[in-house]
Amino acid sequence: MIEIRDVDYRTAERTLVSDIDLVVRPGELTAISGTSGSGKTTLLSVVGGLVRPSTGSVLLDGEATWRGSGDPLPAMSFILQVYGLVPILSARENVSIALRARGVAARTADDDAEEMLDRLRIGDLSSRQVEELSGGQLQRVACARALAVKAPVLLADEPTSELDHTSRDLVMGLLRERAEAGATVVVATHDDEVVDQCDVHHRMDEGRLVSVSTPG
Ligand SMILES: Nc1ncnc2c1ncn2[C@@H]1O[C@H](COP(=O)(O)OP(=O)(O)O)[C@@H](O)[C@H]1O
Ligand SMILES: [Mg+2]
Repeated sequence: MIEIRDVDYRTAERTLVSDIDLVVRPGELTAISGTSGSGKTTLLSVVGGLVRPSTGSVLLDGEATWRGSGDPLPAMSFILQVYGLVPILSARENVSIALRARGVAARTADDDAEEMLDRLRIGDLSSRQVEELSGGQLQRVACARALAVKAPVLLADEPTSELDHTSRDLVMGLLRERAEAGATVVVATHDDEVVDQCDVHHRMDEGRLVSVSTPG
């Protein structure tokens, strides 16, 4: 369980996120919606322990997610808006290195990477350097990397923004699988159809949570 307690995030000039109090439960898909600039990415960055909250705290099963350095807890995995892929490596290598970094043996990591790329229907591109891929293909490699490591927490920042409906629903199905396996999954999105596929919905406006509801 993630507990976000009274969190603000401020820069020298502005408050980007304020008064966030929220509990995010495992086993569910939690959507954070809001227009561009509403603070979704900032909030996910605080929750994931990439930046320090200016006030308040974020706890994962009682442990602070901010560890003093911006290195996230091993339990965290991310799909970031800037995908963070290594341009000169292949799609398979980009996924595989994330697994190896978590202690998976090289051969198994390559096989798992290949399988996840297949499930996202880009298995045929697994040997291609990612700098040669399209935006939607890159986004699917970033999704494959985050999904393949099977971390207890998955923070997904607009994971389907570059995808057509078929690929979007594939990604949502895989996020659902992670939730069903007990993971805590948070999806920042401005796509109502993504929100509809989640269990819990929180909306942000100008850095604040403005409503809490359950779709359907
Ligand atoms: N590092 C930063 N320094 C200053 N302003 C920022 C920074 N990151 C984001 N912002 C601003 O904070 C606001 C919230 O941004 P963001 O969290 O990226 O929103 P969203 O992901 O919902 O589009 C925006 O106005 C954005 O321009
Ligand atoms: Mg954003």
